[in-house]
Amino acid sequence: MRILTGIQPSGKLHWGNYFGAMKSMFDLQEKGENFMFIANYHAMTSVRDGAKLREATRDVALDYLACGLDPEKTVMYRQSDVPEVQELAWYLSCLTPMGLLERCHSYKDKLAHGLDATHGLFAYPVLMAADILIMNADLVPVGKDQKQHLEVTRDLAQKFNNAYGEIFKLPDAYIPETVATIPGTDGQKMSKSYHNTIELFEPANSIKKKVMGIVTDSKTMEEPKEPEGNSIYELYKLFATGEEVEEMASSFRAGNYGYGHAKKALLAAYHRLFDPYREKREKLAADPSMLEDILSDGAKRARKSAAPLMEKVRSAVGI
Ligand code: ADP
Ligand code: TRP
Repeated sequence: MRILTGIQPSGKLHWGNYFGAMKSMFDLQEKGENFMFIANYHAMTSVRDGAKLREATRDVALDYLACGLDPEKTVMYRQSDVPEVQELAWYLSCLTPMGLLERCHSYKDKLAHGLDATHGLFAYPVLMAADILIMNADLVPVGKDQKQHLEVTRDLAQKFNNAYGEIFKLPDAYIPETVATIPGTDGQKMSKSYHNTIELFEPANSIKKKVMGIVTDSKTMEEPKEPEGNSIYELYKLFATGEEVEEMASSFRAGNYGYGHAKKALLAAYHRLFDPYREKREKLAADPSMLEDILSDGAKRARKSAAPLMEKVRSAVGI
């Protein structure tokens, strides 16, 4: 089974990305033939600064490697290193009804968040379909917001196969329902568009400031409190053991346990998990040629799979 996922390098990765996407990918690493790519073409729909895009691309790769991506088990590559993707995107474009893209929610959502209404943003699901189909993926782990894009991908694969013969597999989305929506420092969904994120590797003092600043109600320290639904407790659940979580819940319910205490426990639990990753990341970052080698080896392995399929596609479409 081939598993493929793509991550946009459009900002620093945060706790929501880690628990909502990265962690389940690391778990899947043991279960199939894995591909993970950094969707730098997709990120151009929002990033308009070359140096920033390059830095964010490198940061995503470092973050994944530091937190557990094993380049032996998972082929990691940059989208732009596999030119077959762009070529296929054009062939698919010529089969894509305008109405199909007009129905995509994410385009409208992104305009509502202030992104420019460009052709690239509108056509983004076609490029995503090309990413998936050229790699012959069976399973695509994504967040709920991407479900419709997987439907578009299947639809385009079917249209292509109807027109030119059975060339593409129809991939399935893998959307773990068990993954909770991780709250941000203001209690809303953690998202870079809401400016409420805690980044995986921002400086320790800045993480402390953000954790201590998580919004709570104004109950006094003495008052008993219901932990469920409280952002600090919900975040703590991600980092702590079952026993530790129980302990925090009963302390909250008993009273004489303030939000400040819980924030300190959360911060300690973050450090316990992430300090070793931070150390690994620093080592990796100090050796840029090693990162480059990993990415170019990934691109080679990805193209080894994409190139023969592209040959078939070209021959079928008459190019
Ligand atoms: P952002 O909302 O910060 O722009 P992205 O949309 O780039 O984040 O997130 C990439 C993936 O990370 C999403 O598809 C989703 O799987 C996961 N993710 C992001 N934020 C959260 C969150 N708050 N809770 C759960 N998963 C999240
Ligand atoms: N659109 C995805 C997101 O914003 C990123 C992405 C691009 C992707 N191409 C993909 C994900 C192919 C999975 C497969 O999160």
